[in-house]
Amino acid sequence: MKKSSPRILFVDGPNLNVLGKREPSVYGGQTLEDIRKDVSDAARREGAAVEFFQSNHEGEIVDRLQRARGEVDGIVINPAGYTHTSVAIRDALVYCALPAVELHLSNPSMREPFRKVSLVEDVVAGRICGIGGYGYVLALQAILHLLREKGRDRAGR
Ligand code: DQA
Repeated sequence: MKKSSPRILFVDGPNLNVLGKREPSVYGGQTLEDIRKDVSDAARREGAAVEFFQSNHEGEIVDRLQRARGEVDGIVINPAGYTHTSVAIRDALVYCALPAVELHLSNPSMREPFRKVSLVEDVVAGRICGIGGYGYVLALQAILHLLREKGRDRAGR
């Protein structure tokens, strides 16, 4: 049987559409398009299929996560400002029942106190923070690793 490519959905929350122009000293100079190109190149090398979604609207992110259930194999999510406030995005991630990696360009733990709280950190497999745009490529590698481990577990190792 031909092994199909793992499908990974990247979800980006509010204000990440203006990366590059937005506080470059915190988030770096890369645009979201630049980052997506690097992720797509890495995905091609890894034999993975990637899809990207960005929205400034909480409900649209919830809708996209709901559709992801059964449609993709894993999720990389940067909920951006909603990381610290959104029970709805957390609940949608739980509903997905998919391996997920939480990602931040900056390291929220080193910033204002309100950023130290993540409402999704305990419903994801792991977190990558503070590595800038390259964190997205690392997150792709991380989620593919988790999926490979899961496959091995299923096969009984
Ligand atoms: C962010 C960190 C959040 O605190 C912030 O609201 C963002 C971006 C990051 O990628 O570092 O919008 O998620």
